[in-house]
Amino acid sequence: MQRSGGFWLAILLIAGLSLAKAVEIKILGKDNNTCIQAVLSVNFTVRYEGNGTMENATFQLPNSLSSNGSTCGGNNSAPLLKMGFGTGHSLSLNFSHSAGKFSGDVLTFTYNTSDTKLFPGATNKSVKYVAVNSLMESVPLNTIYTCRSVKAIASEAVVMVFWNVGIQAFVENGTVSKNKSFCKADMSTTVAPITTQTTSTVTPIPTKPPPELPAVGNYTVKNGSDSCLLANMGLQLNITYTDNKTQVINMNSNSTASGHCGDKDATLLLEDKDTTIQFSFMVEQSKFFLKEVKANISLVINGSTTALNSNNSNLRYWQAFVGSSYMCHKEQSLVVTDQLVINTFNVWVQPFEVKNGTFSRAEDCKANENYIVPIAVGAALGAIILIVLVIYIIGRRQNHSDGYEQF
Ligand SMILES: *[C@@H]1O[C@H](CO)[C@@H](O)[C@H](O)[C@H]1NC(C)=O
Ligand SMILES: *[C@@H]1O[C@H](CO)[C@@H](O)[C@H](O)[C@H]1NC(C)=O
Ligand SMILES: *[C@@H]1O[C@H](CO)[C@@H](O)[C@H](O)[C@H]1NC(C)=O
Ligand SMILES: *[C@@H]1O[C@H](CO)[C@@H](O)[C@H](O)[C@H]1NC(C)=O
Ligand SMILES: *[C@@H]1O[C@H](CO)[C@@H](O)[C@H](O)[C@H]1NC(C)=O
Ligand SMILES: *[C@@H]1O[C@H](CO)[C@@H](O)[C@H](O)[C@H]1NC(C)=O
Ligand SMILES: *[C@@H]1O[C@H](CO)[C@@H](O)[C@H](O)[C@H]1NC(C)=O
Ligand SMILES: *[C@@H]1O[C@H](CO)[C@@H](O)[C@H](O)[C@H]1NC(C)=O
Ligand SMILES: *[C@@H]1O[C@H](CO)[C@@H](O)[C@H](O)[C@H]1NC(C)=O
Ligand SMILES: *[C@@H]1O[C@H](CO)[C@@H](O)[C@H](O)[C@H]1NC(C)=O
Ligand SMILES: *[C@@H]1O[C@H](CO)[C@@H](O)[C@H](O)[C@H]1NC(C)=O
Ligand SMILES: *[C@@H]1O[C@H](CO)[C@@H](O)[C@H](O)[C@H]1NC(C)=O
Repeated sequence: MQRSGGFWLAILLIAGLSLAKAVEIKILGKDNNTCIQAVLSVNFTVRYEGNGTMENATFQLPNSLSSNGSTCGGNNSAPLLKMGFGTGHSLSLNFSHSAGKFSGDVLTFTYNTSDTKLFPGATNKSVKYVAVNSLMESVPLNTIYTCRSVKAIASEAVVMVFWNVGIQAFVENGTVSKNKSFCKADMSTTVAPITTQTTSTVTPIPTKPPPELPAVGNYTVKNGSDSCLLANMGLQLNITYTDNKTQVINMNSNSTASGHCGDKDATLLLEDKDTTIQFSFMVEQSKFFLKEVKANISLVINGSTTALNSNNSNLRYWQAFVGSSYMCHKEQSLVVTDQLVINTFNVWVQPFEVKNGTFSRAEDCKANENYIVPIAVGAALGAIILIVLVIYIIGRRQNHSDGYEQF
């Protein structure tokens, strides 16, 4: 680092090799030696004036950046990393060092609201900037400041979210260090270190995702060449094993279906690699219903395989008249045992009298519900009327007897 006039700058941009949009940038100085190297991902959110409303522009630091304006620094100037992109936008950071340590100083984001791509409908077209403290802690010289954790820097109109950051300034002899200094946030959350700078990836946030909804399987039982039982449904098994821990498994919609069809009873057997479930239907007084569920599930718990058998033959779900089908779009929870609840989605079943391989008229679970409410309301009203009537009659009788006594 001698005279800045002798320096010339070049830039190397390596598009993030992986899916993560981590941008790598190198600022070269004298003899093509690297003096600043940085890898980073940034999301920007910028509030700007639209036509009568405030709008939000959101975009990421793109892969194609210009290094114009960057400098390796000299005796009287600090190194500056300037990443220009689009039409007049740039993110820049200058660095300082003292007592064997270096740190980022001021982070400046300059944006041009006349860029209609990023700021559609902006009414105040001008170049604006925000300058904030970079939040980059000081780390020893000849190490890479590394911060995989997500850090957000917010100022009035701009929010910048940084992650997968690796920066070394004041690189000596053009050799980027192999030693890393991790930011405090990384150390407190045991984030795996970046293995190599160009292949840094975003660590998924370790939250348990809600279970995916099961795919709807179309299952058919045949009697000879004719379909005699039809069942379209998505099945999700909620298994409670020891210590009230639960495991949720979606039934493979490609499970093989078999079974038998009778006049008064029918069964549907679904088999998959780890799961076998048998549904038994029965007819009673011209209505059919699901009477029994037998499940045989092999579960992997803490690395060891456990078999779970659940059986209940006293159920009464999915009731409809024989000759029609039962349909229920909303999610239902069939309680089989303490250990097994089957969540069902988009159920459409017909276990009896299937004609021409297609479903007959459907009885919808929603329609049944709608009947139940008026019936309940009607019954309650009837009861109230009856009670009022009884009280009235009793009252009249007492009045009469009182009357007789008085006279
Ligand atoms: C920087 O300082 C060194 C010694 O401190 C001196 O030799 C050199 O000429 C200075 N360079 C510039 C550009 O001022
Ligand atoms: C620096 O690299 C460029 C392109 O790679 C080359 O043209 C130039 O001669 C190099 N300069 C020095 C001083 O090595
Ligand atoms: C950055 O923005 C992208 C696209 O909008 C989004 O998928 C990603 O989750 C964001 N990352 C962070 C850390 O906010
Ligand atoms: C702004 O919005 C108003 C009403 O919403 C509309 O009449 C006007 O044309 C808009 N102006 C521009 C420049 O879009
Ligand atoms: C813009 O972002 C701010 C803060 O994230 C939010 O409160 C506001 O509702 C957003 N506005 C629009 C138009 O999306
Ligand atoms: C670098 O920026 C200056 C003004 O800041 C401009 O005149 C020049 O053309 C730019 N060079 C390149 C290669 O973009
Ligand atoms: C970094 O830049 C800011 C403003 O651009 C300036 O105030 C600050 O002194 C600079 N820091 C160093 C170490 O030069
Ligand atoms: C840079 O080179 C000098 C002299 O060759 C050497 O003393 C120093 O240890 C080198 N620094 C690094 C970080 O390799
Ligand atoms: C299952 O049946 C439904 C309705 O009967 C139909 O819309 C769907 O395409 C079928 N799915 C498959 C995979 O055959
Ligand atoms: C599974 O069962 C447990 C215990 O009854 C319950 O807390 C959990 O919400 C259920 N999960 C699903 C996806 O049904
Ligand atoms: C089901 O089978 C179809 C066709 O064989 C296949 O494309 C699909 O990936 C399978 N789905 C699952 C969940 O195995
Ligand atoms: C049975 O289905 C076929 C084609 O799906 C149709 O041509 C035929 O009319 C149907 N028969 C009855 C009795 O519904």
